[in-house]
Formats: sequence, structure tokens, C-alpha cells
Amino acid sequence: MLYDIGVVGLGVMGANISKNMARNEFDVTTFDFYEDVRKNRILELKEEGVSVSSSLESFVKSLKKPRNILLLVKAGEVTDKTISQIAPLLEEGDTLIDGGNEQYENTQRRNGHLTALGINFIGMGVSGGEEGALNGPSLMPGGQKSAYDNVKDILEKISAKADDGKPCVTYIGNDGSGHYVKMIHNGIEYADMELISESYYFMKHGLRMSNKEMSEVFDEWNQGDLNSYLIEITARILEFKNEDGEYIIDLILDKAGQKGTGKWTGIEGLKLGIPLSIITDSVFSRCLSSLIDERAQINQAYDAEMGALPQEDKNEILEDLKNALYISKLMSYSQGFRLLKEASDIYEWNLQLGEISMIWRAGCIIRAHFLEEINRAYEKDPELDNLLLDDYFKSVVKKAHPSLRRIAIKAIENEIPVPGFLSALSYFDSMKQKRVSSNMIQAQRDYFGAHTYERIDKPGAFHTDWQQ
Ligand code: 6PG
Repeated sequence: MLYDIGVVGLGVMGANISKNMARNEFDVTTFDFYEDVRKNRILELKEEGVSVSSSLESFVKSLKKPRNILLLVKAGEVTDKTISQIAPLLEEGDTLIDGGNEQYENTQRRNGHLTALGINFIGMGVSGGEEGALNGPSLMPGGQKSAYDNVKDILEKISAKADDGKPCVTYIGNDGSGHYVKMIHNGIEYADMELISESYYFMKHGLRMSNKEMSEVFDEWNQGDLNSYLIEITARILEFKNEDGEYIIDLILDKAGQKGTGKWTGIEGLKLGIPLSIITDSVFSRCLSSLIDERAQINQAYDAEMGALPQEDKNEILEDLKNALYISKLMSYSQGFRLLKEASDIYEWNLQLGEISMIWRAGCIIRAHFLEEINRAYEKDPELDNLLLDDYFKSVVKKAHPSLRRIAIKAIENEIPVPGFLSALSYFDSMKQKRVSSNMIQAQRDYFGAHTYERIDKPGAFHTDWQQ
């Protein structure tokens, strides 16, 4: 028998996505380089109708031509090694799909190398974790369009479906574009998580609310504009108790991990010169959280204590906090999509920004109803420079920015750290100025280094002899 598709890597993601394919009636075979991993998975996969090959050679031989092989192995060196072992067994027209969280430059490099050998290479962002892999992830494939067309049916069937039934997968563009889009998804995920965590922290310390009360507030927020997976799980986390009746959230060390995709997004913002302050501040917040001992010493050195807000204003403050969270989230998406637009132009990917927002409506970690508004914005104006110029964004931000301002002031006065909120507000306040403070920077550069400056009243490069 010849199989429709092969999956290499039998970690949880590989195993789950194989089962998902089999449940959608595709013939799937799998392989893992480690014999013990293959043995551990064999029974559970067999039950789902997924075959496990005992050698790489038999695995490759058992696939229908042109072959389609999905790799779900560790990004970086392991992926390179895996490709170098499989590629010699492939023929012209076969396709390798890398479903890892890979850096887009690696994907571009591999795409170039394999294309020269006549092998297609798709770098595919996969979001939704273990559960998504099994029941429907959001998929972001980039690479040769003809290779995508060969696997389109499989990808559409296994992907998550939005409320309107549309699959959460679309062809993204050439070479590394799929992994790039997944990287931005993760950067936005970092910012969403940071802003939600700051809201929790503000309620806990500023309003002295209990976990149960906060859980109810997040549940309520989840019914409105903020409706999203991350708000939903935050409500569940806050009410979760262990067998001793203790809230797990209160037992978790405040030290955030990170695997690098948020950092890569920040670096890309710096590389292309696009402001990405909310995402980068979210990455730095995770870095700061790791400096536990230093924080404890500084806490002592400064007798640090946060103030509490008046209880009688609680309902009004919570209303402001909800609005502040929503528009900070809008600012962060504006930054993320602005970077996507720039990357699309620079790397010539012709990214369809509206379609990208649509495939994030289900399956992925940042799934949220409001993403439809982003699609509407780009449908109205595919060349839109910044989402803050769209009518929906304009009406929300105009109404809600005083709330963000009030929350920022209360946080500052009471020494409650909310770097994400402050970053969102600074971005908004700076972006809405026709003139910012950089005329002074230009003057200083010219003063000490004769770097020249442009003028507001005539074209050209000017230098002043400042010492005269
Ligand atoms: C997803 C997630 C997934 C993973 C992140 C976590 O879209 O399914 O983003 O890719 O959970 O890699 O990243 P950090 O460990 O950096 O938080």
C-alpha cells in the first residue's frame, strides 16, 4: 500500500497531527529516528490507523509520488540533520514540509538548497499546541505554490475551522514567509499574554481582588470585544485549585520561560526599523521576571510597596481596565501587522494581511473574534499603512484611550508595574503627533558629528557650524 503523506518525528505534535490526518481519512505513515520513540507510539498510532515504519528507507518508499513528508522535529540543527538524511532518498518534485517553530532565515536557506536539487520545501507555521495538532491547528505554509497545491486538501481538512466553516490555512507566500508569519503570531501572543497578565496583576494588587472575583471578571470580558482563547484560559487558570484546595496560580513561581520566537520578532522589528515596542517590552518583561534574586534585593533596598485603589471606584476602574486592555491589544496588533506589511514589501512575499488574520480566528493561541475586524480593514483598503487608520480601530481607540490613560496614571501613582500598557500608550501618543522630538536628536547629531539634517522648509542635507 502507498501512503498519502508521511510524518517524521513522533513527539506529541507529530503523533497528534498524524492521528488528525488519519481521522480525516488520509493514509498516513510515520517514522522517528529513535527506536524507543517508535516503539512507544506504535500501539496508540495503530489504533488510529497510522502506520509506523521501521526504517527511513521503507518509510520513503511507501509514499505515493510525488512524495509529501511533514517534519515535526526540533528546530535548528536537528531539522538540518533530518533533512540531510531524507533528501538523498527523495526524487525531483517531492516535497518536504517543516512544521517546527523555525527561524525564517533557516527556512529560506533550506528552500534555496533543496530547490536546487529539485525538491520542494515548505516552511509551515503550526499553532495550537498539542490539542490543536490533534483537533485542528491553524496552519501557515510558505514555499513553492505548486507544492502547496499538492497538499492543500490534506492541510485544509486537518486545520481548525472558523465559525463560518472556513479552514484556518492559506498559502502564505514564497520561501520563509510561513515561518515568518508564525513568528509574528508568536510575538503578538507574547504581547497578548503580557497585557492580560498585567490586568490580572493590577486587579490583584491595585484592587485587592480575590482569584475567584478575577476569574469572574475575565469570564465577563470574554463575552464582549475581548473574547479570545487567552482570556478564556486566564479565567480557568484563576479558579483552578489543587487537591489541597490551594489556588495553583498562587503557587507558580513568577519567572516566565521563553523559547525565542518573541525575541526573534523583536529583532526583526529592529532590523526592518518598524516600531514593535509592545512585543519587545513583553519579551523584556519575561527577561526581567527571571531576575528573581536581583528583584528581591531591589525590593528590599527601596522598601517597595504598591498602593491600593479606593474600593468605591472599583466598578469604574474595572471598566477602564477592560477598555485599556482592549486598545492596548489593538496597538499591539497594529504594530505586528505593520511589520508584516514591511516584510511583505522587502522580502517580496505579497502577503495577504486580511487572509492571515482570518486563519488566526480558530485553532491558534491568539484566536479571537476581533480578528475579523482586521480582515474587514484590509478588505476595505489592502494598502492600509497602519490599522490605527481604519474606521473600526479609530472609533474604538478614540473612545477608549482616556481609559488607558486613567489606568496608566493609577498604575504609576500606585507603583504597579504595567510596562505593556505604558508602551501601548506611548506608541499611540507618539504616532498621533505630526512632529515628534527628533528634530533635537538631528541637531545633536549634527552638532557633535556633522551628520547633517533635513529641513522642514526646503529639500536637501544641511549642516550648521554650531561652535561659531
Ligand atoms: C503556538 C504556540 C507554540 C508554543 C510557543 C511557546 O502557536 O502553538 O506559540 O508555538 O507554545 O512556542 O513559546 P514560548 O515558550 O516562547 O512562550
